[in-house]
This record gives sequence, C-alpha cells and structure tokens, in this order.
Amino acid sequence: MKAVKVRNPASLDSLEIVELDDPGEPGPGEIRVRLHASSLNFHDYAVVSGKIETQDGRIPLSDGAGEVTAVGDGVTSFRPGDRVVSTFFPQWDDGDPPMGSFEQTPGDGIDGYAREHVVKPANAFVHAPETLDYVESATLTTAGLTAWRALVEDGKLKPGQTVLVQGTGGVSLFALLFAKVAGARVIATSSSDEKLEKVRSLGADHTINYKSCETWGDAAFDWTDGIGVDHVVEVGGPGTVNQSIAAIRPGGHIHLIGVLTGRSGEVQTAALLKKMGRLQGLTVGSHAMMRRMIAAIDANGIKPQISDRFSLDDLADAFRHEESGGHLGKIAIEI
Ligand SMILES: NC(=O)c1ccc[n+]([C@@H]2O[C@H](COP(=O)([O-])OP(=O)(O)OC[C@H]3O[C@@H](n4cnc5c(N)ncnc54)[C@H](OP(=O)(O)O)[C@@H]3O)[C@@H](O)[C@H]2O)c1
Repeated sequence: MKAVKVRNPASLDSLEIVELDDPGEPGPGEIRVRLHASSLNFHDYAVVSGKIETQDGRIPLSDGAGEVTAVGDGVTSFRPGDRVVSTFFPQWDDGDPPMGSFEQTPGDGIDGYAREHVVKPANAFVHAPETLDYVESATLTTAGLTAWRALVEDGKLKPGQTVLVQGTGGVSLFALLFAKVAGARVIATSSSDEKLEKVRSLGADHTINYKSCETWGDAAFDWTDGIGVDHVVEVGGPGTVNQSIAAIRPGGHIHLIGVLTGRSGEVQTAALLKKMGRLQGLTVGSHAMMRRMIAAIDANGIKPQISDRFSLDDLADAFRHEESGGHLGKIAIEI
C-alpha cells in the first residue's frame, strides 16, 4: 500500500512516497480502516517541516477518515462498512483533560494517516457524521473539534453573543460556522481583503484586516458599541493576545489555541485582570466532545469549509500551499 514518510532532517522536500506491506488483519480490540481522506493542520506542517522534532520514518497526518474493512475480537462499537473519523487523543474518551502531550497523537508521537490502510485500536476512531463525505469528515479530528470545544464545550456559547475569530485558517472557519449556527455574531480578521470578502459570504457580520488595522482588538471593541466581545478564538498567541484582551468584554473568554506568532511573549496581565477576562489554553478535545460535535453537525447540516484538494502523491505541494497562506479553511488530502 502507498504511504508517505517524513525523512530526517525533516523538510517538505524530504517527504518520501513509499510502498509498505499491507497492515494485515486486526487483532483483539483493533479495527482495520481503508482511509479515503485526511486534512492538513498547522501541527502537521510543523511535523513535516522539522519545526517539531519527529522520528525518522514517521507517517504524518493526524486527521483520517475512511471505511472499516474488518474488526478484531471484542470490538463491539464498529462493523465492517462503518464510516469513521480518527481521534486526536485516542486515549481520551471523556472527563477531565489529560496532559496535552502528543505522545499518542497520530502523525506526531505515533504514525498517522498519510497511507491507504491502517490497523489501530478501536479508540483511534469514532463514527463519522452521516451528512458529510470522507473529505469533509476528515477535517473534524483536529480543527473542527478544537473550535467546537472552545466555543461550545468550554465557552458555553449563547445566542446573541459576539465571537472574534483570528484569520481564516481551519480552526477559525470552523469557529465561524459553529458560532453562526449557535446564533452568535462573528467578527472575522484576516491579512487579506479578498479573504474577508469571502468570510462575509460565509456569515461573518463584521471584518477587520489585521495588517492594515494593527489595533484590531480596539476596533472590534468599538464595533460592539463599547460592550466588548464574548469570545476570542486566539490562534495567534503572544503577538495577538494583547489585542484580544482589548477586544473582550468584562468577563470575556480568550480561547488560547495557537501560537502562530511565537511560543512566548508579554501578556498585559493588568489589562486582563481589569477586564476580569478568562485566558484558557486548550488542546483539541475528547471523544465525547467529538461525538456531540458530530451530532450537532448532522442535526444542523453544517458543512466544513474546504479550500483546496490534493492527492496523497502531492502531499508536499499541499503543505507548500498551506505555507503560502493561500488557503481559506481546510486543505484536504484525497487518499
Ligand atoms: N490547541 C489546539 O488544540 C490546536 C488545534 C488546531 C490548531 N492549533 C493551532 O492553531 C493555529 C492555527 O491552526 P490552523 O490549523 O487553523 O492553521 P491554518 O489553517 O494553517 O491557518 C493559519 C491562518 O492563520 C492566520 N494567521 C496567521 N498569522 C496570524 C496573525 N498574526 N493574526 C491572525 N491570524 C493569523 C492566517 O489567516 P489569514 O490568511 O486570513 O491572514 C492563516 O491563513 C496554529 O498555531 C495551530 O498549531 C491548535
């Protein structure tokens, strides 16, 4: 079967397409899946480009969707023919978060889904939504679940609240979709006026170009008539969090998801304190959260925003496209 491996020193040029032995039949507690799709996340880019250290020969990609082709002894939750989507933390079914380590994360600590077939413990997958195809389903593992957990599970988003989403990548556009279905207002930011026009057509109520308006947090605060936004989907990290503090209402919630601007920096703690704001870090979510998200997707006809599609053979080009920032939403991989 075809697969892609990361070769060290990792770079997009060192991604290698290989032929591997068939993974064989599932053992007790395992399932075999014919993978049909994956999607790219910034985390996957960090692995394949060498920004995160990984083992030589690692099969990348955390997201995977496909069809169950065989089940091992003792597996009761899946049958052959079931459509499934992968879990980011196979070991986290429900309850309090584990330590946010990537040791068990496919495509980082263990092999991922840039391949045609896989045999894994059943907890590596959940049932896919009935209303989404494989490509759409594959966007849920990481980006979809992170946005869902931030706004719905942890944020307890309510109709009429205001959500600010930073940029137009995978996580942010899922947050836009979930916020609109929940009856919230959305302020979207981007470096591109063209992308801002597109996010208005996806439902954004107000848009701000964060390049031409460096004080976009103040601008968002003003747009809410001085009330402030309820939630910020913080993907920028240290370079953006102070404008997020400016944007929130007293008691507002900043969901610290990404660190696109760097891994550490100065947080205006006194301003956060004065706003009585909540700054909460989070890493993806549990299977129980994923099941609730999938139920909501099926109930509301939510369709992930797919920007571009590439084949597994063109995985390096797909990552180059992500690197260039040319995408809006998710970059899909068809397997
Ligand atoms: N904590 C978690 O569980 C979790 C889960 C998923 C992702 N993440 C993190 O979240 C971040 C986004 O991930 P992703 O997969 O959605 O990435 P992505 O699809 O590659 O999107 C990146 C987008 O971020 C926007 N951006 C870049 N710099 C920005 C800035 N200074 N201010 C505002 N927006 C900026 C850009 O939007 P424009 O082109 O519109 O400017 C860019 O297209 C990454 O740091 C990733 O590691 C964390």
